[in-house]
Amino acid sequence: MSSLFTPLALRAVTLPNRIAMAPMCQYSAGPDGLPTDWHLIHLGSRAVGGAGLVLTEATAVLPEGRISPQDTGLWSGAHVDAWRPVTAFVAAHGAVPAVQLAHAGFKASTYRPWAPERGGVPDAEGGWTPVAPGSEPFTAGYRTPTSLDEAGIAGVVEAFAAGAERAVDAGFAAVEIHAAHGYLLNEFLSPLTNHRTDGYGGDRAARMRLTLEVARAVRAAVGEDVPVLTRISATDWVEGGWTIDDSVVLAGELAGVGVDLVDASSGGVSVDQRVPLGPGYQVPLAAQIRRDAGVPTGAVGLIVEPEHAEQIVAGGEADLVLLGRELLRDPYWPRRAAAKLGVAYSGPAQYARAA
Ligand SMILES: Cc1cc2nc3c(=O)[nH]c(=O)nc-3n(C[C@H](O)[C@H](O)[C@H](O)COP(=O)(O)O)c2cc1C
Repeated sequence: MSSLFTPLALRAVTLPNRIAMAPMCQYSAGPDGLPTDWHLIHLGSRAVGGAGLVLTEATAVLPEGRISPQDTGLWSGAHVDAWRPVTAFVAAHGAVPAVQLAHAGFKASTYRPWAPERGGVPDAEGGWTPVAPGSEPFTAGYRTPTSLDEAGIAGVVEAFAAGAERAVDAGFAAVEIHAAHGYLLNEFLSPLTNHRTDGYGGDRAARMRLTLEVARAVRAAVGEDVPVLTRISATDWVEGGWTIDDSVVLAGELAGVGVDLVDASSGGVSVDQRVPLGPGYQVPLAAQIRRDAGVPTGAVGLIVEPEHAEQIVAGGEADLVLLGRELLRDPYWPRRAAAKLGVAYSGPAQYARAA
């Protein structure tokens, strides 16, 4: 009996197994953040490959919340129409389609990784001025943001709620809020990047306020049946930054406003981070949140071996395992994992002769 291949019920949705494709930017959207055939094939392949949950890349709730001009979005009805064939295909192949709703904060308006240039995209090349908790850039070469005022903050909360409502309309069966990796919500959470003196900065409760307002608004927007996940950076990996103990508190508060699972990533807020990279290096973060906050978690980061993934779920360290790069290397990883773990696996009928 495999734990990895045991279904996971989240509200009215049941994932067929505990394998999720981690959100991964593809920098391949059409004009104005519209998903393209690339997204249909890329996400569709992982559904055909057997992942139980297929998460989109960071999908911006506002145009200025895109990391690059080539990021996907969900800020209009045109985006809803463009996402529909993607969600329909993913769902038709037995996976749960989920969107990661995002706002890039001071890391917005940057070149995609394979562009020859680095850092901030200027206005003349389709860039824009980012917004953030303050007016300090992320690091040299990035664009200098405008500090959000209270009306701007309220606009962000509304945009996440509207994006979540559109997500359901577009056929997404679950929503993940991106509050990690040094993007806007993470910038408000971390004492390294939030130096505000209003009600959204100062002590931990004030720094958590925006993320909790977003989570509450997203929950209200999607109704009671749709699972809401939240990806956090469970530690900044910087002395004096956000810590795992802060994350345990945040996870409890998130669950209180209707978040069903915390996806425990880390880092991204500071160039001074020192990340102890290694197989499963973020799993202890997921395990501690699950144990101390009593909240279901997802584990992610350098998980590549089926036996390792199985042991994470079986050992109670996390409820879900997210794979990023390994699923880029092999969309059929779940099929291979099933074979290794001795689990009967039925892929798509079209491929039955290759069973
Ligand atoms: C190409 C690429 C794009 C990524 N884009 C996102 C993203 O849009 N949102 C996010 O939360 N994480 C993003 N990540 C991080 C992954 O979701 C994942 O947490 C990370 O790659 C570690 O998992 P892995 O070792 O299985 O790849 C990205 C990673 C890669 C490799």
